Parts: sequence; C-alpha cells; structure tokens
Amino acid sequence: MATDSARIRTEDVRRDGRAALQVGGQRVVVFSLGGDFVAYVDACPHLGGPVCSRGSLHPFYTARVEEDGRVEPYFAEGGERVLACPWHGWEYDLRNGQCLADGTKWLRAATVVHDSDELIISL
Ligand code: FES
Repeated sequence: MATDSARIRTEDVRRDGRAALQVGGQRVVVFSLGGDFVAYVDACPHLGGPVCSRGSLHPFYTARVEEDGRVEPYFAEGGERVLACPWHGWEYDLRNGQCLADGTKWLRAATVVHDSDELIISL
C-alpha cells in the first residue's frame, strides 16, 4: 500500500498551535502539543465535521471523590488537550485521538516525523 506524505514547517504549526495541509487528497491538521506534534485527518468520526481545523481546544475537566464523599471537579494537568467538534460537541483526547465519550471511536491519525525544521506528515 502506497503512503502519501507532505511537509510542513514546524514554525508554521507552533505559531497558532495547529496548521492544516493536504496529504493524499485529505485535509490533515497538525497540532503542537507539549513540545511535540500530533496530526489527524480533519473529519470527525461522528458525521465528518471539521473537528481538527475548527474544533475548540480546552483542558481536560475531570473529578475525584474525596474521603468525605464530596465530588471535587478539577482541570487535569497537560494544558489544552481536549478537542471538541464544532458540529455536535464530541470530544477527543488530542494526545491519541480517542473519543472521550466512546472509547471505540478515534480520529484518524497521521504519522509525524521530524526532519530538521520540517515535519513529514504521512497517511
Ligand atoms: S460531526 Fe463531530 S460531533 Fe458530530
């Protein structure tokens, strides 16, 4: 099976935290994430919404149960790593593309390889 790939400059991704490019006829969005990079096809597994290019990013909001039974919500460490689809709000863990509400659903990941000041993005 042939692999499609394209290049993008790392500074173009870091500037806004994400940048889009075409890879093999598909729109792929590369994200800067904690000093590293991840990339996904810009199509939500729900109904194909532009989750990567237009989705909002926010911290992971979770909760713990205290010893007295109180539920204490808090933002987990790791910065803005939850990506929410603009169409119906499905959320994904930006670190691996997994849907938070349904762990069987995933964003389609692209491979990211560093090459000097560029990234090679492959599907
Ligand atoms: S298309 Fe993304 S949540 Fe429906």
